[in-house]
Amino acid sequence: MYEWIKALHVIAVIAWMAGMLYLPRLFVYHCDAEAGSKQSETFKVMERRLLKAIINPAMAVTWLAGLYLAWAGHWFSAGWLHGKLALVIAMSAMHGFFARWVKDFAADRNTRSQRFYRLVNEVPTVLMIGIVILVVVKPF
Ligand code: HEM
Repeated sequence: MYEWIKALHVIAVIAWMAGMLYLPRLFVYHCDAEAGSKQSETFKVMERRLLKAIINPAMAVTWLAGLYLAWAGHWFSAGWLHGKLALVIAMSAMHGFFARWVKDFAADRNTRSQRFYRLVNEVPTVLMIGIVILVVVKPF
């Protein structure tokens, strides 16, 4: 059972990360589209679908399966899991910001620059690298 849930966890992680890496790219391109243009409306649909159909459910499944693994594997006292949880909470907070920015673009009230979204784009990558090293290498 543990291995099956781990497979489900990794599948959900891949879907969540795919969306977390792609959504800020959409924000970067969206900055170039004039409010009210056809292009801007297309980006709105892409952003909403990516958020609602992919990354929201993928995050929920990642958390549920991850917490099951932590409980079933008696990992809650492990140092690596504490570090991993801190980074996953940061990833979930980024997810929350992304959801807010999707709403801002949807209402044509984005005020942040393209440069801002380019920088933000790197955050999920850095967090993901830390998370994977902690869970696979388990350095402490
Ligand atoms: C949401 C909270 C999360 C919790 C509570 C959690 C917890 C866990 C636990 C306990 C394991 C099993 C470790 C083992 O059996 O050795 C695991 C496996 C794994 N987790 Fe998570 N995880 C979470 C989120 C994530 C995220 C966001 C990522 C990637 C960005 C991730 C990547 C992985 C990978 C790649 C494995 C497989 C490691 C292996 O088999 O060696 N997890 N997770």
